[in-house]
Amino acid sequence: ALYGGERVNSAGVDLADETTLAELARSFAAGAGKRWQAVPLVGGHAVVGQPGLAVSNPAARGEIVGSVVEATVADVATAAAIAEQASAGWHATAPAQRAAILLRAGDLLEARRDEILALCIREAGKTWPNAVAELREAVDFCRYYGQQLKTGNFRDSATPPGPVACISPWNFPLAIFVGEVSAALAAGSPVLAKPAEQTPLIAALAVEVLHQAGVPGEVLQFLPGRGDVVGAALTADARVRGVVFTGSTEVARLINRNLAPRPGVRLIAETGGQNAMIVDSSALPEQVVQDVLQSAFDSAGQRCSALRVLCLQQDIAGRVSEMLKAAMAELVIGNPAALATDVGPVIDEAARAALCAHIETMRRRGRPVHQLPLPEACAGGCFVPPTLIEIESLADLEAEVFGPVVHLLRFDGRQLPALVEAINATGYGLTLGIHSRIDESIDAIVAAARVGNIYVNRNMVGAVVGVQPFGGEGLSGTGPKAGGPLYLPRLAETPVLSALD
Ligand code: SER
Repeated sequence: ALYGGERVNSAGVDLADETTLAELARSFAAGAGKRWQAVPLVGGHAVVGQPGLAVSNPAARGEIVGSVVEATVADVATAAAIAEQASAGWHATAPAQRAAILLRAGDLLEARRDEILALCIREAGKTWPNAVAELREAVDFCRYYGQQLKTGNFRDSATPPGPVACISPWNFPLAIFVGEVSAALAAGSPVLAKPAEQTPLIAALAVEVLHQAGVPGEVLQFLPGRGDVVGAALTADARVRGVVFTGSTEVARLINRNLAPRPGVRLIAETGGQNAMIVDSSALPEQVVQDVLQSAFDSAGQRCSALRVLCLQQDIAGRVSEMLKAAMAELVIGNPAALATDVGPVIDEAARAALCAHIETMRRRGRPVHQLPLPEACAGGCFVPPTLIEIESLADLEAEVFGPVVHLLRFDGRQLPALVEAINATGYGLTLGIHSRIDESIDAIVAAARVGNIYVNRNMVGAVVGVQPFGGEGLSGTGPKAGGPLYLPRLAETPVLSALD
């Protein structure tokens, strides 16, 4: 993205460069026994004295990556009081100063490259390219929101917007954690950050970096722990004036109910999807197959943007699905620490069990299931092999299936408007893919679909901060889109100065 002629997106890490690869391999091997720690940070002080819980590697459950001390309800109350006290001072810190801190945090994250990539792989089961994308997106968020303060596209609120609770997910344990936190800090709010239970270690590292960059301890406090304890306490606390949440629609509903007695509290929620890709008979099958693999199985399907329902026009469905099965057979499933791995583990045993239960339900209903074999080496981890299930209608899918499982739905070309209506009727509206070479069809689908992000003739994951603002509507989220120009104004409840930058 260009801001005043300046390119701010992170350059990322070139995994095709042999020198870089050798450096990364060396440091990954050297850190093999490393244990990381996450402890609550309240008012700049570590809460010590409680035993830590083990955090294990989802690719090898026996491998302990570190430990976490979970925050208590009392810690939340203390932190909320401190954040309230810090609110006026942080809001009074000049926007240029807040920007400088965030831009510095972006640079510091890049400087911790090796440790961050290793942690994304070992704590969250990310493949190397996915770990690189995590780091890049986190840096991009710091720079994008920092830059908005610098370029004057955002005007501070007249009064302090007050403390914000940032509740983030495990599927982007660095990028979304940093995205939520950096936005709230940019908008002038002290932050109470609660990372996902599964990935507190990466978040702890990000908090350390943000403090090092200059965010005061009272302005960013860290509260790892369970959603039903820490999350519930945060969203019930009257001192919390805003909540930024990314996760399931079900939890977003709970939060919304918790906030109901306090109508002035801002809520930004980004939730799930029942994301479809519509492929008509004019599409290029090779391109479709490549984009389906990327959209459905990259990140082991654990992206809210990921493809869940591949809708193939009847005429080409047989050919494309055969090509897809052949291409799926080439996917390498296994330990994400190996560079050749395409599909790593799902996040934990509960996720694995839920996915297996869904696949079993589909089998029992008589839906054809095509599943890759699981390599023996995967036995000690939480793996679900890439799976393709033929369904008869969208009614076969009750809830979002969050993993490497894609459903195939055949449609008659004459029924295209009804198909788009059925997709809209799921109530979700996050991403949609379209593969077609007929402009009129593309335009008609774009006009009728109620979704946040539409991708035409390409894959449908990996939105780039500042270039493709990301977020959905309906059951998929409240908006505004993350990494876009409306986000900070919503957090601070200030007017949008320019939606075009
Ligand atoms: N922002 C991510 C993507 O675009 C989804 O969470 O894939």
